[in-house]
Amino acid sequence: GRNASLRAAVAPRIVPKAKSGSQISPQASYKVAVLGAAGGIGQPLGLLIKMSPLVSELHLYDIANVKGVAADLSHCNTPAQVLDFTGPSELVNCLKGVDVVVIPAGVPRKPGMTRDDLFNINASIVKSLVEAVVDNCPEAFIHIISNPVNSTLPIAAEVLKQKGVYNPKKLFGVTTLDVVRANTFVAEKKNLKLIDVDVPVVGGHAGITILPLLSKTRPAVTFTDEETEELTKRIQNAGTEVVEAKAGAGSATLSMAYAAARFVESSLRALAGDPDVYECTFIQSEITDLPFFASRVKLGKNGVESVISADLEGVTEYEAKALEALKAELKGSIEKGIAFANKQQ
Ligand code: NAI
Repeated sequence: GRNASLRAAVAPRIVPKAKSGSQISPQASYKVAVLGAAGGIGQPLGLLIKMSPLVSELHLYDIANVKGVAADLSHCNTPAQVLDFTGPSELVNCLKGVDVVVIPAGVPRKPGMTRDDLFNINASIVKSLVEAVVDNCPEAFIHIISNPVNSTLPIAAEVLKQKGVYNPKKLFGVTTLDVVRANTFVAEKKNLKLIDVDVPVVGGHAGITILPLLSKTRPAVTFTDEETEELTKRIQNAGTEVVEAKAGAGSATLSMAYAAARFVESSLRALAGDPDVYECTFIQSEITDLPFFASRVKLGKNGVESVISADLEGVTEYEAKALEALKAELKGSIEKGIAFANKQQ
């Protein structure tokens, strides 16, 4: 059932053994590329992907320091073969034939910065990396982690459109960390077993655009108005909590790697034919009047199979207001991304 697959997604198996009764083909083996693999997120993400029994090749790309990361990871006795690629001249070989491309390349926040402050640097990085994806593996699932995701995802979409290979079902802004945080904070507050809690988080991935739909928490829980307010704010500001605790040494990397690995594992299970894979992600969407919106989707072999629009029905007054309030900021960030991609052509 749903919870079983959620559990599988949350807890990647360390021992590469097929589950009995698994709906996934035992021969399933995929190639995954991580662009920005020597970074704070890239290194632990590489480790977690190396643990996946669904991966046959792990391609690690960065502009520097990736050889050592690959040598290190290659000593883990799990099946995935680890290959390293350094600098633009090796990017083509990194991308050829891969099924999933994960992009955590770029600079992270320091205290006092918003995600939008990263735009000037990360927008160009994402643009150039997605251009390489267009040329070498246009059919791959693309996972965008680099911030500001509210703008970098629309940039990626524009680049793919310009080259005539845009498939909105296969382009994802990674918002899994918002769900992971929401699940953790709700379970703590309500004394629930962590593994069972699932909170859909919709909207975008920055400040008030992150909207946890606490009323849709499963298993069903009730919250006082104060609890709703406190949990919503904490989930929205959780990234800043980490940025401040790290005091200049970067932003969330370990929990982000965990969340990104869950999204990769879910994507691979979907590719392998598991009929029961759901994740929240920032995608092209028609469930609001915004062109891109994060919500729960069902994943299948071809990417997004359906968007769970029912999550937006029957929300509380608090959530309905927050949804209206986030639209202006999210719209602005989306338009900023689209404008950037088009002016630079
Ligand atoms: P980091 O600075 O530790 O690592 C970034 C890596 O990207 C470095 O190894 C760097 O060499 C590499 N890089 C830079 N330009 C590149 C290029 N053109 N091609 C390939 N690699 C390149 O940063 P960290 O902490 O790993 O964060 C990465 C990004 O992820 C940041 O933009 C951060 O804001 C974002 N992030 C997103 C989250 C989300 O929920 N979507 C959560 C946390 C961080």
